[in-house]
Amino acid sequence: MTHTQLMEAPKFRETDLPPGMDKLLQDYPRASWDAHKGFAQATRNWLGAHKAFRKLSRFTREDTQRYLDKTVEAEKFASNLSYFGNALVANLYGHHHWEDMEYFPELSAADPRFDSGLAILEEDHQCLNGLLENLTLKANRVIKLVQLDESAAYEEAGELLPVTEAVETLLTRHLADEEDLAVPIILHHRLRG
Ligand SMILES: [Fe+2]
Ligand SMILES: [Fe+2]
Repeated sequence: MTHTQLMEAPKFRETDLPPGMDKLLQDYPRASWDAHKGFAQATRNWLGAHKAFRKLSRFTREDTQRYLDKTVEAEKFASNLSYFGNALVANLYGHHHWEDMEYFPELSAADPRFDSGLAILEEDHQCLNGLLENLTLKANRVIKLVQLDESAAYEEAGELLPVTEAVETLLTRHLADEEDLAVPIILHHRLRG
């Protein structure tokens, strides 16, 4: 990796997928997935993991807001953040790694149409991993400060909030687009059955 590559942070994607990229979705709309014969347990589990990530990222953002609004006790907030924040970060790193190394190559090999969105999804992972690193750093600081200096903890939580918002926003966009690209290919080729 060159010095320039190291310096370049992956872009935070502000937009939906380019039109036409999810063409196959027209043949396999979301409402039809559940009843499709190719909708195997492995795919249901994968979507279930996405659902858990959505919930965890929303909770982390909402609970940080509750602490800033003083509607949750500092100790409770710190223990929630430690437990649920860690669950979000650790599981998402593993999920991204598995998708990059196994899942995406499998979809690419099955259908070259997947490649049109592959670079976007991989860049989302890079950007999300960077945000998760930042979230971990700030969350650990808040958790420690709750024991030492509560006004400093409160201030740090003010910096944590926009990171939790960024994670939730990009993650929500990423998961929906990833599902729209991957599931029609899975159903079309009867993968992961
Ligand atoms: Fe992903
Ligand atoms: Fe995923």
